Amino acid sequence: MLLAHITDLHVGMPGSRIFHEFQSHRGLEEAVVHIQKIEPTPDVVVATGDLVDRGHPVEYELLRQVLSPLSQPVYVIPGNHDSREHLRAAFADDGYLPKEGFLHYAIDLGGVRLIALDTVVSGKPHGKLCHERLRWLDETLSGQPEVPTLIAMHHPPFVTGLRGSDLMGLSGRHEFEEILKDHRQVEHVIAGHVHRPITRRLAGCVASTLPSTTTQLVLDLTGNPGIAIRAEPPCVGLHFINENVEWVSHLSFIGDYGEAIVVA
Ligand SMILES: [Fe+2]
Ligand SMILES: [Fe+2]
Repeated sequence: MLLAHITDLHVGMPGSRIFHEFQSHRGLEEAVVHIQKIEPTPDVVVATGDLVDRGHPVEYELLRQVLSPLSQPVYVIPGNHDSREHLRAAFADDGYLPKEGFLHYAIDLGGVRLIALDTVVSGKPHGKLCHERLRWLDETLSGQPEVPTLIAMHHPPFVTGLRGSDLMGLSGRHEFEEILKDHRQVEHVIAGHVHRPITRRLAGCVASTLPSTTTQLVLDLTGNPGIAIRAEPPCVGLHFINENVEWVSHLSFIGDYGEAIVVA
């Protein structure tokens, strides 16, 4: 099984630019072409939120259009830039999103389980796992304790050291970590929101974030509460799970870096 992870697509209105500079749907178009060239072909694509920039229905139309060349199933969750209801409407035909309430769900990927969480607080940049969402997670994990599981969410469930991002962090993360301690089948937690690659051990599993398909936040560990962006390379995350469920994760950099030079 090869699972491709993309995050923070920030698709804007047609012709618009985000952060004054970046035509974000161009970044997603390049990510889609990149995924199509990966060998072996990824079995599934997971997009962890900030799918569009302002939550507008027209942005979701463009998002679906740009994603449409992908042949494999694409599973999405909301981020703080999304509109829960406009996202739900845009992806209703795919059949896996709940018709009401939080946009969380579980999918059997064939030997591996995907659990997607909704961490959105409408209209706010920070995230939250409230009592209701945590209880749903606990019950859902209890349903299949033997199946290796990937949890996907927008806000990372840990402090990153990037002060500006941590000020828009996730409340309920300590409770989330306590739940993970009771469900050892969770192998990996993937997230977005911080537009950078970060990894942390969390309750015995690996938790990681991924660069955006559009633009990255500057690495700043000084405690500065501001946020700055830079055109560092976008990435696709690749999670390779072999027949023994040995799980390894790679970053595949999007961009033209020239031909491979065979050295051995
Ligand atoms: Fe984002
Ligand atoms: Fe975000």
